[in-house]
Amino acid sequence: MSRADFPALDQQVHGEPLVYLDSAATALKPQVVIDAVTNVYARDCANIHRAVHTLSQRATKAFEVSREKTRAFLNAGSTQEIVFTSGTTEAINLVAQAWARPNLREGDRVLISGLEHHSNIVPWQIVCRQTGAELVVVPVTDDGEVPLEDIEAKLDERVKLVAMNHVSNALGTVQDAAGVAKLAHAVGAKVLFDGAQAAPHIPVDVAAIDADFYAFSGHKLYGPTGVGVLYGKKALLEAAEPYQGGGDMIRSVTFAKTTYADLPAYLEAGTPNIAGVIGLGAAIDYVEAKGRAALHEREQELLRYGTEALASIPGVRLIGTAKHKVGVLSFVMDCAHPHDIGTIVDAKGVAIRTGHHCAQPVMERFQIPATARASLGLYNTPEDLDALVRALGEVRRMFG
Ligand code: ALA
Repeated sequence: MSRADFPALDQQVHGEPLVYLDSAATALKPQVVIDAVTNVYARDCANIHRAVHTLSQRATKAFEVSREKTRAFLNAGSTQEIVFTSGTTEAINLVAQAWARPNLREGDRVLISGLEHHSNIVPWQIVCRQTGAELVVVPVTDDGEVPLEDIEAKLDERVKLVAMNHVSNALGTVQDAAGVAKLAHAVGAKVLFDGAQAAPHIPVDVAAIDADFYAFSGHKLYGPTGVGVLYGKKALLEAAEPYQGGGDMIRSVTFAKTTYADLPAYLEAGTPNIAGVIGLGAAIDYVEAKGRAALHEREQELLRYGTEALASIPGVRLIGTAKHKVGVLSFVMDCAHPHDIGTIVDAKGVAIRTGHHCAQPVMERFQIPATARASLGLYNTPEDLDALVRALGEVRRMFG
């Protein structure tokens, strides 16, 4: 499906046709996204929100159209609730510094899970150190799940923020985000979701979830790198401190006093990633045209196929066997270290990620140094997974 839309797939690696199974790290880009970015630099190359000339008007319009597409993509109530950032990481750091830092004090708690990416751990460690609040972690089960009842057990009125991934990057576990939000709100806490791995794989509706904050990245959604989104409820974003000072976020500046612009400009200081935001708009169009529900269904079939195929290889152990998963197959082999697995399958043209996946506590939980991770994108086919299985056969031959 759609392979021809992705020029990067039309190449050989080590003399073999490329099989790309690393979309959780970054997804390949369809030609329409590449064209949208190219068009900005080739034609509409101007700064936004600043000039009356035609190129600036065109760039500003395309930029703000992308904001509206992003709003609709998340089912947010208003474009004022859509803040463009450099990625999920910056979106989470923005909430940590602009919202959490002024609101947390000693005795307060931030609740995360043991399944988080470093970008949903370290910003909270920093803000806890700054404010005296405490970071509390909900443990992960043997299947790689963080059950609602375990979250509830850690919740009380001391918890001011619950920050969790909607989908785990290391294991693919899908969290019941609406369930988490309901529990958090019952004790008066706000809730932030790291949606970096959810946005490309499952329909996301921030209104239905009742998320207070939701972050995702463009590049995992078939869009450009260096662009991301923070959704925040308007009242919370309005109450945030300035995140960065600079151009575009002010109403007036004198040396005596500065007044600030309205949302979302207030939280978007400086020239943004204009081409990236416009490319993200093209990526959203692309994904919406395919239909998010249809993509999800197809991916689930591939996930089942891949899970069975890997399970049938002697010595392969899947890490992360949650009931609800997206297309992530993390595994270890008894005969080889993940880095050796990655190198050998690369020689067969198969790209997977190996390592701790920026989630070292997950590796520690399963008492492994690393995993090999095959992750699916909308261009993958059963034949891609067959190629992975054949390449893993080579690993067994060499190390087994
Ligand atoms: N967070 C990205 C991954 O899981 C980079 O690979």
